[in-house]
Amino acid sequence: MIDTLTINTTLTSHSRLAEIDFDHLQFGKIFSDHMFMADYEGGEWKNFQILPYGPIPMSPAISALHYGQAIFEGMKAYRLHDGNISVFRADKNFERFNISAARMAMPTIPEEIFMQGIAALIQTDAAWIPTGENTSLYLRPVMFATDTSLGVRASDTYKFVVLATPAGPYYNKALKVKIETHFTRANQGGVGYAKTAGNYARSLHPFSEAQKEGFDQLIWTDAQTHQYVEESGAANLMFVIDGKIVTAATGDTILNGVTRRTIIELAEKNGIVVEERKVSIAEIIAGIQSGALTEAFAVGTAATVTQIGEIGYEQKLYTLNPVENRTISIKLASQLNEIRYGLVPDEFGWNWIL
Ligand code: PLP
Ligand code: COI
Repeated sequence: MIDTLTINTTLTSHSRLAEIDFDHLQFGKIFSDHMFMADYEGGEWKNFQILPYGPIPMSPAISALHYGQAIFEGMKAYRLHDGNISVFRADKNFERFNISAARMAMPTIPEEIFMQGIAALIQTDAAWIPTGENTSLYLRPVMFATDTSLGVRASDTYKFVVLATPAGPYYNKALKVKIETHFTRANQGGVGYAKTAGNYARSLHPFSEAQKEGFDQLIWTDAQTHQYVEESGAANLMFVIDGKIVTAATGDTILNGVTRRTIIELAEKNGIVVEERKVSIAEIIAGIQSGALTEAFAVGTAATVTQIGEIGYEQKLYTLNPVENRTISIKLASQLNEIRYGLVPDEFGWNWIL
């Protein structure tokens, strides 16, 4: 039994909705009129509020800024074909948020606060859910440490905030990606499986170096040998080799993606074999050269299913099978879309209808 949260609501006196160009949405640039906020203090969550989106007064000494206790999630709300609003697999994001919290010595958040906070924000800003093709309202829950103390220790106070941003596709073309064999994103015993700010911070320098070489993204490899592919900067990776989907097994160093799990479940329903295991660079390159590797794609909430067109490795560029020939990922992406937008019955129970 989930308790009903008492949420204090202050509505904006000036909605920005009419100023938004919903036909040209860029990812994460504009935020809806409101946000949800809660505070953790004295060992409990309190001050549940919906308030106008805007700056939060904070000390420059808050420990999130200095020592990086900050975690987040990403999920999407959709306007379904029948007019209802649904959030896709939010229960999985809730579980992962608390896994991240535990690893970062942060308090976990009770389900009713996470879910009801999100639901209240979506209901308040329902008019912000875009209705164009491949659009959604992207939700960004974030928790960060707010103690104003420079001692290195876990903070005693935190803020939980949920933002909403109307979104189109994160990528709009097949990607040119570089296999990174010098820098690492995550290591055994580290925090790679947590959705924590520092994982993204450490990826930015290698990412911008790759961008200078003309790449759109990186493929991270294992920290010890740089021989095995792990995931991408903002999505998990899948390959089709000999008609089977092959993807790196999750563990310490890889984010356990909700879209990854969803595509695996859909593939299995379609009778497609999925192998979750170590995937070597040697296998990828040999597969491209022999023609056994027919598809490569990134899967994530923001990325949805994004095709990989070219892979760079050790100064060589490998061009993959043309996107129009990729039957497996195209079919699974379209099945996923049909469920997300309520065009077919949701037999898996993935849509949380508000
Ligand atoms: N890996 C990383 C590093 C990510 O940032 C994301 C995005 O959330 C993913 C994988 C994909 O996870 P999900 O499908 O849960 O969005
Ligand atoms: C998401 O897909 O939700 C992500 O978090 C990726 C992001 C860092 C843009």
